[in-house]
Amino acid sequence: MSTTQVAPRAVGTALDRLDGPDKVRGAAIYAFEWRVHRPAYLYPLQATIAAGCVTGVDTAAATAEPGVLAVLTHHNAPRLAATGDSELAVLQSDEVAFRGQFVGGVVAETAEIARHAASLVRLEYAERAHDIELRPDRDDLYAPAQLSTGDPADTALGDVDAALASAAVSLDATYTTPMYHHNPMEPHATIAIWTDDGLTLYLSTQGAHWIRATVAELFGLDPPRVRVISPHVGGGFGSKIFANPDVVLAAMAAQRVAGRPVKLALTRQQMFSQVRYRTPTVQRIRLGADDGGRLTAIAHDVVAQTAKIKEFGEHAAVCSRNMYAAPHRRTTHRLAALDVPVPTWMRAPGEAPGMFALESAMDEMAIACGLDPIEFRIRNEPSVNPETGAPFSSRNLVACLREGARRFGWERRDPTPLARRDRGWLVGTGVAASTYPVFRLPGNAATIRVGRDGRYAVLIGAADLGTGTWTALTQIAADALEVTVDDVDLHIGDTALPMACTAGGSSGINSWGSTIVEAARTLRARLRSEHGGTAPAEGFEVTAEMPDNPDSERFSMHSFGAQFAEVRVHEDSGEVRVPRLLGVFAAGRIINPKTARSQLLGGMTMGLSMALHEHSVVDPRFGHVVNHDLAEYHIATNADVGSIEAYWVDEDDPYVNPMGAKGLGEVGIVGTAAAIANAAHHATGIRVRDLPITLDKLLR
Ligand code: MOS
Repeated sequence: MSTTQVAPRAVGTALDRLDGPDKVRGAAIYAFEWRVHRPAYLYPLQATIAAGCVTGVDTAAATAEPGVLAVLTHHNAPRLAATGDSELAVLQSDEVAFRGQFVGGVVAETAEIARHAASLVRLEYAERAHDIELRPDRDDLYAPAQLSTGDPADTALGDVDAALASAAVSLDATYTTPMYHHNPMEPHATIAIWTDDGLTLYLSTQGAHWIRATVAELFGLDPPRVRVISPHVGGGFGSKIFANPDVVLAAMAAQRVAGRPVKLALTRQQMFSQVRYRTPTVQRIRLGADDGGRLTAIAHDVVAQTAKIKEFGEHAAVCSRNMYAAPHRRTTHRLAALDVPVPTWMRAPGEAPGMFALESAMDEMAIACGLDPIEFRIRNEPSVNPETGAPFSSRNLVACLREGARRFGWERRDPTPLARRDRGWLVGTGVAASTYPVFRLPGNAATIRVGRDGRYAVLIGAADLGTGTWTALTQIAADALEVTVDDVDLHIGDTALPMACTAGGSSGINSWGSTIVEAARTLRARLRSEHGGTAPAEGFEVTAEMPDNPDSERFSMHSFGAQFAEVRVHEDSGEVRVPRLLGVFAAGRIINPKTARSQLLGGMTMGLSMALHEHSVVDPRFGHVVNHDLAEYHIATNADVGSIEAYWVDEDDPYVNPMGAKGLGEVGIVGTAAAIANAAHHATGIRVRDLPITLDKLLR
């Protein structure tokens, strides 16, 4: 059974962002900006040790400061109803599990008073030796019961060791990626209001309902008594999916000064210890091939870190389970549990670091086999999912590689490293594949209401992180209702709306869109059967839940892409420039070419940033990120980016969902770093296996 598709009319048009005019005029309200009556301001206190406990608290000077409303520590903070999650059990004990952990907070009449008073609180600690270094030779590495995606830690088929031993060509290389931090333009921000009716949170979040569920449980409230409002979000790369300690601290402070709204906006520096991060990885890849360049063995072994207080298993080798054909294959994931903040999902978790390793190794192997890297990938294209045997719902990696090669001018490339020089610069080009799964997250419902005026209100608690949800869901609703986008009023970003999943795993369009299509079909069917097809005077509404997609069990569903990079490395200084990136993607039907292109350009830019700049540097003596601001944690800016082009191939996938769309938020970052590393190797003959690619690594 395949899903009946919606005839696209609004879908596929490059509609301008519906929220654009409000954003340009400053009329779109972000979390911290809501006008609330007599707000108070919260400033957190953070642990200055990496492990141990708080032994002494002196809040006298802070409390005496004029304008201070409350000073919270573990001695006097409200008790939470649920403390099983040690990361979120804020101020429930004297334990310090990582440096920077919240150990208190000051609430005051102004943000300045709160910050000053926080500096007057004296805390004493009993420190214990901390353990924060991820090394692949640790003897306490373990396999998690499952990865953060629910996938198993390990998979194996055939006999990898024997296949590697007898391979005509083989590769054994280790790649590393550093710790990265989420840096959306809008830092995490909360306004918490505690009244007799419950708790209201104006929040910068990727998923209002997910946050509500967690906060309600922590505070022992029925979920309907917690309302989360978040119509506009200034970016989110995964750190805004789950409730973080800042939300808990703000809600606690609001409970303490009940009636006064409490505002908390994390500073950029606080973002580097409070809202999680992408784990560093150490990845060993072994490949074996026959003398025709056909892979016989693929092994991908990942070591990553997690926190002692909560487990998170990054799934960096999962990409190697479905990218290339080979009869003998193995993937493993091992974790080190450390005295560190909990890692989490960050744009293309798993695939972004994992495909850096796999696609760098594929480039090395192509060279070892004497093959063009595109031809090498095409030779190893699987006809079905190579681990499960399931057919792909659609797979157009080869089309992306060919179309990209044509647009990029790949055929003019001399494959010899160091072949091109231009006035002191070594010039090279590289290619890498990209992939991302088609996820659908559960727990979605949508209400559609039609009034006498023929306007349709579409209600679903979805989120727009700047991605284009407001626009794309309106287009999907218009087509499903067979009306124009002007007839549709979308409502998202509020738990007062029907339940929706978080904006995570590029699943938004799939999950919310499928739900809206179901509600629209139900509405139209019932209008026909009950009202002769016309809305009654009093209006009419239906609510529908997201239907199951039985095809998702039968098919392996993924987006694919091909990323091309030109890199210039200065012969004397090692300075690296990327004048050109070009990506071609196959991601199903494109709902809105304008917002889609934005997503892909953003992903590729973040991939460039990952390749050359981003790197959270931890001081092992103290356990904190040293470069915890945008001056020292360098993110690619306009001047770092040359020409970026994003294209897609037409792809008709009748199985993924009624829209035929696969999701675009993450596939754009996947493979970019490998394409750049491969191009840097082509330019210089130097293979950089450790990100970021800084100039010191390119000097002979
Ligand atoms: Mo994305 S890491 O699922 O926000």
